[in-house]
Amino acid sequence: MDEQLIKTVNKLQDAFSTVGVHNPVDLPQIVVIGSQSSGKSSVLENIVGRDFLPRGTGIVTRRPLILQLINRPAESDTTEKGDNETNPNEWGEFLHLPGKKFFNFDEIREEIVSDTEKKTGKNLGISPIPINLRVFSPHVLTLTLVDLPGLTKVPVGDQPKDIERQIREMILTYVTKPNAIILAVTAANTDLANSDGLKLARDVDPDGARTIGVLTKVDLMDKGTDVIDILAGRVIPLRLGYVPVVNRGQKDIETKRSIKSALESERTFFESHSSYQSKAQYCGTPFLARKLNILLMHHIKITLPEIKAKIAAALARYRSELEQLGDPLTDAAGQAANTTLSIITEFCSDFRSALEGQSADLST
Ligand code: GDP
Ligand code: NA
Ligand code: MG
Repeated sequence: MDEQLIKTVNKLQDAFSTVGVHNPVDLPQIVVIGSQSSGKSSVLENIVGRDFLPRGTGIVTRRPLILQLINRPAESDTTEKGDNETNPNEWGEFLHLPGKKFFNFDEIREEIVSDTEKKTGKNLGISPIPINLRVFSPHVLTLTLVDLPGLTKVPVGDQPKDIERQIREMILTYVTKPNAIILAVTAANTDLANSDGLKLARDVDPDGARTIGVLTKVDLMDKGTDVIDILAGRVIPLRLGYVPVVNRGQKDIETKRSIKSALESERTFFESHSSYQSKAQYCGTPFLARKLNILLMHHIKITLPEIKAKIAAALARYRSELEQLGDPLTDAAGQAANTTLSIITEFCSDFRSALEGQSADLST
């Protein structure tokens, strides 16, 4: 996630809580959908930048995972550490294990696997009962992401006969919310016209106002083929477009390759591939994260008038309280009110320039 956006939103949250308005910005949920093993969990993990989701061939994600990221300033000053080294400022907590802090993200993954098995059995069953995980970190935006089981047609193991309908209904409860941003994931080495994720996204978001197409496994395409026609909107056009990415493969998972190293080779892949070279800046995970940031910024912009009304009401209330207290300019309460006002004013101009900076990217 974009550090500038994190700073902007935090500043906004701080300014509002000073005047007694809490959580003014209700950011959309980001939901990943697509066929089983298309790379949904891998995409989500790359966006978060931490290694903690079970991934692999076959049906690995068998319950919804509701991941709430919570921005929390660093308390102790630590130098940045590599992937999955513990850091006192970053930890996870599960709703089903209250009070237990997981500083080791490998243990978070183990807990997701073990609680999945508890509720579904080991034999590939699925369950709509979500796992709720909160991740506290100075490097995230306060935001909710949802990882879901993949769309599948043929039951395996203990799966019920109507598995297709069950999974579809489970997914629908998340993507029908008008506040959801849908990441419709399709593996680039499969036929886009048969993409389950895109079909479902079209059912709930026919205008494509909140669907981003994500093409995974671009590295696994046959030699001489590429996704250029899809990106150009010549196959199934999507208003918000498509982003091609290269996630870690099964071998990388087995050898515990770090996210950092995977992102470097993703960049090298697009920069050195003859089809993508000239548009490498519009490819890969960092561009996907930027696209998401732009959508979030627009969401904030749309909710801004409502937020402003809330501030105005809070300030009016505050002023009348101050008048009863005496000269507002000389006492401490008056100082606080003035400080808040100036923070908000400053925020508004910051926000405007941030939006202007971002909208330059919108044409892509
Ligand atoms: P999900 O079932 O949709 O959540 O998919 P996963 O994220 O679990 O990934 C399924 C398998 O595909 C794993 O073995 C991943 O390593 C692999 N995979 C996912 N994305 C890519 C990619 O872009 N390139 C390659 N080579 N493998 C990928
Ligand atoms: Na999988
Ligand atoms: Mg998964």
